[in-house]
Amino acid sequence: MPVMINDQTLQFHLQGKDVSYVFHVMKNGQLGQLYFGKKIRNRSDFSHLSKRESRVTSSYVYDDDSTFSLDLIKQEYPGYGTSDYREPAFQIEHPDGSRISDFTYQSYELIKGKPRLSGLPATYVEDDGEADTLVIHMYDKVTNLSLSLMYSVYHGRNVITRSALFTNHGEETHVIKRAHSASVDFPDADYEMIQLSGSWSRERHMSERKLSPGIQSIQSTRGTSSAQHNPFLALKRPMTTEHTGEVYGFSFVYSGNFQAQVEVDHYQTARMTMGINPFDFSWTLGSSASFQTPEVVMAYSKHGLNELSQTYHDLYQSRLARGKWRDAERPVLLNNWEATYFDFDEKKLLSIAEKAKETGVELFVLDDGWFGKRNDDRTSLGDWFVDSKKLPEGLPNLASKLNDMGLLFGLWFEPEMVSKESELYQKHPDWVIQVPGRSNSIGRHQLVLDFANPEVVDYIYEQMATILNEANINYVKWDMNRYMTEIGSLSLLKNQQAEVPHRYILGVYELYERLIEAFPHVLFESCASGGARFDPGMLYYAPQAWTSDDTDAMERLSIQYGTSLVYPLSSMGAHVSAVPNHQVKRITSLETRANVAYFGAFGYELDVTKMNKDELKEMTEQIRWYKENRQLLQYGAFYRLRSPFEQKGNVTSWMSVSSDQTKAIVGYYQVLAEPNPSFKRLYLKGLAAEKEYEVSGYEGTYLGDELMNAGIQLSSGYDGSQTGGLEESGDFSSHVFVLVETDQNNRGGEV
Ligand code: DGJ
Repeated sequence: MPVMINDQTLQFHLQGKDVSYVFHVMKNGQLGQLYFGKKIRNRSDFSHLSKRESRVTSSYVYDDDSTFSLDLIKQEYPGYGTSDYREPAFQIEHPDGSRISDFTYQSYELIKGKPRLSGLPATYVEDDGEADTLVIHMYDKVTNLSLSLMYSVYHGRNVITRSALFTNHGEETHVIKRAHSASVDFPDADYEMIQLSGSWSRERHMSERKLSPGIQSIQSTRGTSSAQHNPFLALKRPMTTEHTGEVYGFSFVYSGNFQAQVEVDHYQTARMTMGINPFDFSWTLGSSASFQTPEVVMAYSKHGLNELSQTYHDLYQSRLARGKWRDAERPVLLNNWEATYFDFDEKKLLSIAEKAKETGVELFVLDDGWFGKRNDDRTSLGDWFVDSKKLPEGLPNLASKLNDMGLLFGLWFEPEMVSKESELYQKHPDWVIQVPGRSNSIGRHQLVLDFANPEVVDYIYEQMATILNEANINYVKWDMNRYMTEIGSLSLLKNQQAEVPHRYILGVYELYERLIEAFPHVLFESCASGGARFDPGMLYYAPQAWTSDDTDAMERLSIQYGTSLVYPLSSMGAHVSAVPNHQVKRITSLETRANVAYFGAFGYELDVTKMNKDELKEMTEQIRWYKENRQLLQYGAFYRLRSPFEQKGNVTSWMSVSSDQTKAIVGYYQVLAEPNPSFKRLYLKGLAAEKEYEVSGYEGTYLGDELMNAGIQLSSGYDGSQTGGLEESGDFSSHVFVLVETDQNNRGGEV
């Protein structure tokens, strides 16, 4: 029974696979939290889990009960102003200027399955038997506002999702100043907070800090979830490792400004809150209107970070991503961006495509520069019609030529942007995000279209749909290359200006929804200057995302490793690019570049016509091998073995294991060579203890339990001799090997 309700004590016990979440209605009618953690048995009364004591300086709700101070009580969805001084989950300004709300319990509703959130991305079920949803209805009788807290618990997973819905049943307008999606009060603060932070070109690096008194917070104010901080945090016990110990994950299914924080108070309790960033946000809630918060996906693991990641991978791959491409093997692509930048014509594209096809590439992606007069990044965004100088025969024709070669065709768009130098901006300067009387700051010479205005969304839909209708396009790369500034909309009222960032994201979701509905065969890949909007919200529409503009193999180790904390391999676009690498100028071997990019949605981003015979041969072999192992490399269970964020970051290792454990692929990477190195053993994970495996490149057979406990000694290739040149250097070296159960004949072959 995943949801157990005691109607007498009004206690609610949600049970996932190994997790329990318990809360109750308190004597003031609000919700109190009782427990979140490893699964416990049910009982009729859990209220002793919230034992109250009074403290001399506390304010309390009832004169005759000094223990009932909200500051001392674990709560479900706390407000501010009635004896709790910590940061609240929500705050509403009422017409009389007051900011106190008192939502008290009215009723509950138990729903089989999981209702969709209107206009918002969210995890889903395919069968109502997969999850149960508990909705708690609360009401504030002074203001006539209701609050519905929604909890879904997936059977067989360690996942509980949460969101909140406010509705105005009165006549007057209220203003929501803060509406988080989840708040969890932990009874102690002995945790380390893990976050995925970085910048352009070094997105989602893992960083950890011990919780300490006060607020530790990450956020975005940029209009997208951002490269600076991913909408995710984990709380782990200090002793928790990749494979042992307790950890809680909180992942926000949203692509705009967010806040995720933990407040440690003076009694060493820890309050985690996550939701839309309350900074620069407000929402006018008129009579009969509702406001739905996006979803937070809470996950729990008692076996370390890796299990937490696999919980997210499995859920996001199968119950967040949607459509035809969700479970399908993703095509090996070649993208022309780093091959040509803006400098191409049809002849050049076709010559690249032709060579690419010979190597086994399946999808040719035409990136930026095919429209308007886009010869550099100063012009033409918004003018979504083909540049007839570069492509005189048009897109439909180019698509047929590529199709005739046996290639699929993919096209780049940046739908949310407009260049000052464009026909669209000349016609519609009113369609950009702006504040009257203030000049617009510029990013990459472009302005942000006002997606809070439905007219703009309609217009861009028509432009894109025309192109997708007239040419045979199988893939769209949806880019977004600047953050927002001077945020305002000419289409909204004065008192709605702080709604713009959220309305904008709703507009983006709406456009995506309409496009995937009209063009269900198209594979969408989201992108924002690389990985500045790599979040669960986007995955609902686009099952893969461009992980980072940084394609250097060594840099990608940290980026892909960090990304894997939450996101599945099938979602991570990973390409082999030219050397010297365009971002860091580093030279790495073609082998190492592929060995890193294999673990994801694989492709190339270089000018194949400039590769020599040997390189083309190697690339052909890489693609052949990838296709043979693609199912495992995109959908296998992923295990992190060695972290680039530890041990000076010199070694990274990971592996992907098939669901029947008959096959696995391991990647091992070393940044700098070591003189006279010690003998390296690598301890594998996820294998079947009782199975026997052959390991490519190693003689004999190995037992599953042996590989996981005694490990495998890696060949270092070092013999101390002074001969050899750059190619023999151990810098930026890598090693990928395949394990196959001995009685299987589906060997992946040597790499
Ligand atoms: C940023 C993306 O991340 C790149 O891959 C490329 O598409 C450029 N934009 C094109 O302008």
